[in-house]
Amino acid sequence: MNDINDIVKQYGYIKKAVPSGLNIIDAIKNLKKEKNAIILAHFYQTGDIQDIADFVGDSLKLAQEAEKTDADIIVFAGVHFMAETAKILNPNKKVILPDLNASCSLAESAPYKQFKAFREAHSDHVVVSYVNSSTEVKALTDIICTSSNAVEIINSIPADKPILFAPDKNLGSYLEKMTGKKMTLWDGACHVHKAFSVEKIIALKKDFPNAKILAHPECEKPLLTISDYIGSTSALLKYTDNIDINQFIVATESGILHQMQKQHPDKMFIPAPPDDSTCACNDCEFMKMNTLEKIYWSLKEEAPQINIEENLRLQALRPIKAMLDISAKKGL
Ligand code: 13P
Ligand code: SF4
Repeated sequence: MNDINDIVKQYGYIKKAVPSGLNIIDAIKNLKKEKNAIILAHFYQTGDIQDIADFVGDSLKLAQEAEKTDADIIVFAGVHFMAETAKILNPNKKVILPDLNASCSLAESAPYKQFKAFREAHSDHVVVSYVNSSTEVKALTDIICTSSNAVEIINSIPADKPILFAPDKNLGSYLEKMTGKKMTLWDGACHVHKAFSVEKIIALKKDFPNAKILAHPECEKPLLTISDYIGSTSALLKYTDNIDINQFIVATESGILHQMQKQHPDKMFIPAPPDDSTCACNDCEFMKMNTLEKIYWSLKEEAPQINIEENLRLQALRPIKAMLDISAKKGL
């Protein structure tokens, strides 16, 4: 085992200082070119990472980009399930996650064994899983969805088929409302989207009466009820483009504010306050594990890589392909 593998094994990422005097942005750009690599970054990444990425987007867009890229290396500036999805779609490419500790509380809320038992107890159900799930859970799923295509995915299922939806109960109950279909919901949630305070948002709205409240569907029902617009990260961003309003209270992870502010320097974007004002709860600590330094080292050393056992990969590929096919048909 070489040094780098030892370091990755110990820390989950390459814990090393960058050479002094190195211009890290130029160095990353050069490595990308030299190695025919791309960086895919989720909207929840820090601004500096979004700004050096080849594509910045939501979960669906990044999966679509991963499917069509002809790069040899994909560096995924996001969390584990996103890099795994890219690897499932690209078994022959190197898929790198700069920090293997970048998990997701929502994906973790559906452990494989319990999910398998739940699935077996509802064997007549069509299983729809949110992309925020492990590869093992995906392998037990019929169709994957993201927050951008979830309504269309649910509506594509014949009306007489019972549906089991996992792991996000908040997105699930929002989808029940949007589609009129009752589903059996797994009891999972995202710790970031659970943390917003409805009371504080209502108080903030008094200070900014013209502001529109934007919320991701992973937020809890009372917050969704008072929101002016609900959508995936890309839908929220698009909403701010298409409306003649200058102030927005944004109830999702703080990274999206970078793109909103960048695209609309004249508009005001206020992060929705969390219940606990002592924490940085609008930040997903998993998303924020990625740094330019970790990206630099991961590209240079081509580690840490995501690897998935082939049988498992093929089982997880089926529901992802089903999602991508439905999305393509619907023009999403
Ligand atoms: P998007 O589908 O909007 O990318 O959401 C992903 C996510 O992790 C939300 O917490
Ligand atoms: Fe997972 Fe929530 Fe972080 Fe999104 S914000 S990656 S759902 S923990």
